[in-house]
Amino acid sequence: MTTAATLSIRCFDASDTDAVVALWQEAFPEYRDTTRPHRNPHLSIANKMATQPDLFFVAELDHRVIGTVMAGYDGHRGWMYSLAVDATQRRLGIGKRLVAHAEAALTARGCPKVNLQVLSAKEEVRAFYEALGYRADAVISLGKRLGAMADAAVPAAEAKEAPEATTSPFVV
Ligand SMILES: CC(C)(COP(=O)(O)OP(=O)(O)OC[C@H]1O[C@@H](n2cnc3c(N)ncnc32)[C@H](O)[C@@H]1OP(=O)(O)O)[C@@H](O)C(=O)NCCC(=O)NCCS
Repeated sequence: MTTAATLSIRCFDASDTDAVVALWQEAFPEYRDTTRPHRNPHLSIANKMATQPDLFFVAELDHRVIGTVMAGYDGHRGWMYSLAVDATQRRLGIGKRLVAHAEAALTARGCPKVNLQVLSAKEEVRAFYEALGYRADAVISLGKRLGAMADAAVPAAEAKEAPEATTSPFVV
């Protein structure tokens, strides 16, 4: 396949910021939701650049950023976030390659298991991960905002999503 053959996956560079923000705003509706100021793509990028920036990857095709994935390893488990592929480039195997790239980087660090979360409303994303061998664990996902965001109002839609509506294909 032409796309997969000419695709390259590399670490994020600051010069990719505008392209990554545009991609996320299209792929993740919450980044366009002004009632969720804590969903700030620029802050997400800045935080990742300060923490294991070598686990933030972009997929590039013809010098254009068309995919992203973030990973992290806390010494016990690995996590994956912000997997996104440009809407015009989906179902070409790019998401699968990004996940494989992140998995390989975690494995190279000695990480024995990777966890991730998928909103249960996103059936197609769950199908994607299941196609890659991920399976739901019998857990619920709990969360709590910390620091400056601790007092941020959680919109009803988001409150409803957590924790019951979040499936963790891999936890523990
Ligand atoms: C999820 C996402 C990254 C998948 O990227 P992709 O490049 O289209 O995925 P791939 O082409 O590598 O798919 C690999 C396999 O996963 C499965 N799959 C992918 N998308 C699917 C869908 N919409 N429905 C069902 N199965 C799907 C298929 O088995 C596919 O293989 P096939 O195309 O040969 O049938 C992409 O749909 C996306 O960016 N979605 C919006 C952002 C998002 O929700 N990210 C996840 C956050 S948790």
